[in-house]
Amino acid sequence: MTVRTTTPDSTPLAAPDLSSRDPDWWRQAVVYQVYPRSFADADGDGLGDLRGITRRLTHLAALGVDALWLSPFYPSELADGGYDVADPRDVDPRLGTLDDFDALVAEAHRLGLKVIVDIVPNHTSHQHVWFQEALRAGPGSAARDRYVFRDGRGERGELPPTDWHSVFGGSAWRRVPDGQWYLHLFAPEQPDLNWENPEVRADFRTTLRFWSDRGVDGFRIDVAHALVKDLSEPLRDLGAPELSREEALTDLPPGTHPFYDRDEVHEIYRDWRKILDAYRPPRTAVAEAWVPGARRALYARPDELGQAFNFEYLQTPWDADALRQVIADSLAGARAAGASATWVLSNHDVIRHASRLMLPPGTDLDAWLLSGGRAPAVDAAAGLRRARAATLLMLALPGSAYVYQGEELGLPEVADLPTEVLQDPIWEQTGHVRKGRDGCRVPLPWTTTGPSYGFGPGGSWLPQPPDFAAYSVEAQDGVEGSTLELYRTALRLRRKLLDGEELVWAEDTPDGVLQFDRCDGWRCVTNLSGATVPLPAGEVLLTSAPLEDGRLGPDTTVWLGR
Ligand code: GLC
Repeated sequence: MTVRTTTPDSTPLAAPDLSSRDPDWWRQAVVYQVYPRSFADADGDGLGDLRGITRRLTHLAALGVDALWLSPFYPSELADGGYDVADPRDVDPRLGTLDDFDALVAEAHRLGLKVIVDIVPNHTSHQHVWFQEALRAGPGSAARDRYVFRDGRGERGELPPTDWHSVFGGSAWRRVPDGQWYLHLFAPEQPDLNWENPEVRADFRTTLRFWSDRGVDGFRIDVAHALVKDLSEPLRDLGAPELSREEALTDLPPGTHPFYDRDEVHEIYRDWRKILDAYRPPRTAVAEAWVPGARRALYARPDELGQAFNFEYLQTPWDADALRQVIADSLAGARAAGASATWVLSNHDVIRHASRLMLPPGTDLDAWLLSGGRAPAVDAAAGLRRARAATLLMLALPGSAYVYQGEELGLPEVADLPTEVLQDPIWEQTGHVRKGRDGCRVPLPWTTTGPSYGFGPGGSWLPQPPDFAAYSVEAQDGVEGSTLELYRTALRLRRKLLDGEELVWAEDTPDGVLQFDRCDGWRCVTNLSGATVPLPAGEVLLTSAPLEDGRLGPDTTVWLGR
């Protein structure tokens, strides 16, 4: 029996042949999310940038991912970390230029990496020329019709047009000096677009072509489920603030919410698919749609976006029965839609899984963050052990896996950021009740020493805790058993073992254990039982933690071959 927990060298596998134009490259791809402002800073202003990313692309190639997804890098005042886009067809000058973008794509392709960019169609920044024009043009103008402007209620129009709430807290309406109100489902600096307006539709077609022509391979569609609103007059109230949250969708008849998951939104994606399919290979797309499973699959239909993030998987607690159910449902849903499944454990909006999976089910995550991560305290070593097991499980599932920068280093959530450094609009908009998402956006540590641990020569826009040194790439590179080496080995093996999109659950599995075959010669076993369990027969290809006297310890995943 051989146990390999590290890879002997970290050279990338032969780059996939991009000229092969394989239209299905994305179906089982591993996509690495880069949050540009926190990845690597070349110019030393403390904010990550495109040249920083380009210099570090060899890290992604050595990791063995297939693609990188860039969160927004467009001009933005950063009212919502770049998701407030002032111009969707340019680069924020603090992050670089369009030439830098082209250089990034060229280098990525040279290394065999595909590039996916983020499209934000639900809203713009209030600094977008359209919104500035709308403010000047006044009520009833064509410029205002690109957004959702309405008169208020009350004798003098002093009350918002509806009781809709923003995802970030407070009313979803803001009043402008001439008395009208505009809709913003997110921050006030993010006015919602009106997708009934043909100019809005045309402009996004232009944006898709603009980036496709520059060589990007796919798109991540931000808030894909909210574009179409029921704007028939009079706009209707929801009746309770909690009904403005996506969570309400599980209780409402499908397609009836005034701004989430309306049936008409699918026309937009059918239109986009025609544009994306005009390229060779066709451009891919993945929906960010926080809607319940069966409805989510609709966004992933082959004549629409092709994939949708599986947030139910992300939200499932570390429990064998719950995970088995969500895996089975997700695979069935994807199959029924003709899509491939997706899996994600961490991203720039959620608590990193090395911390989150340790919190008892039902923990109020906002309260946990407010406590600075102390109530309850999370044991970092135990969290890392569980995260590594969860990752090997995810990487064995059929479909594509989305990996968030820093999880390959085992980074925990930075839950104790002092409130005075917080940048997420959620903090202010909730009146200091929710700290928001900065704790998963702290810039990456590349080196064990030096300014900002190698993130850049000029410090970092959010403070990094001292223990980031031990998580850095330098500290883990080539170190047997490190999380970085575990990811590298897992991704290398996964490429070799991938065969088909099926999964067969094994019979006779002990309680608290997940066990399935991906294909003849690749079995994945995850022990969530809290006790050691016998190791099934087979050659040990990889383990997330050392075996214990030949048995599988708690919170451990093993990949077995024949
Ligand atoms: C998506 C993004 C999130 C952003 C929001 C508004 O959920 O992932 O970061 O705040 O959309 O654009």
